[in-house]
Amino acid sequence: MKADVFTLFPQWFDWFRTQRHVENALALGHQVEAVDLRATTPLKWGQVDDTPFGGGAGMVLRVDVVEAALRARYGVDPVQLKDTRRVIALTPGGRQLDDAYVGELAASDEITLLCGRYEGFDERILEHFCSEQLSIGRYVLAGGELAAMVVLDAVLRKLPGTLGKEESAVEESFSEALEGAPEYPHYTRPAEWRGWTVPAILLSGHHARVAEWRREQSRMRANLDPAHRPLP
Ligand code: ADE
Repeated sequence: MKADVFTLFPQWFDWFRTQRHVENALALGHQVEAVDLRATTPLKWGQVDDTPFGGGAGMVLRVDVVEAALRARYGVDPVQLKDTRRVIALTPGGRQLDDAYVGELAASDEITLLCGRYEGFDERILEHFCSEQLSIGRYVLAGGELAAMVVLDAVLRKLPGTLGKEESAVEESFSEALEGAPEYPHYTRPAEWRGWTVPAILLSGHHARVAEWRREQSRMRANLDPAHRPLP
């Protein structure tokens, strides 16, 4: 997987790259590159945004700036780019990220993430250069960078070999293996603490029964929380 993140704050991603599973992904040959929108701006003084037509607060990321950055990176008209790769704008109103969406992205060879700042994107960027808009939830962040990191964190940990234990991304909350339900509870040593005990089944060594108990717990959690009903 090759992920390019277009941003006004490329240095923020230096920290992101030091996360263990991200480091593992990079060592396996996957790539996460932060592309500085200011580096290719056709405007003076590194300008990238402007005041909104019609008035109003905040600044809007300019379409000519994003076009220059995409052209410089990919050498094609960005209008065509979206036919050959997912070009994703991070916006609060976009398609909400969930496990299925993460899975789709993890299956892509190359993705492009566009981070807006301030009031967001000139609408023509979204309309003409982007294959889709992605939201990490219905709230507004100051910019798309943290959202891009959330997306990449979730996507990279799905790639084989990036987690310590291969199966840990398979049977986890909201995965197909758990029918879209939240994960079952985990316990570790000590087996008893302040009188709080661990369910005896987990200490029984009975793998099949443990698996059944976990499935039940996971289903129970899904029924308790309507937001996490199993997939149809
Ligand atoms: N940019 C600002 N807020 C956002 C959100 N909630 N999701 C994705 N990108 C955003």
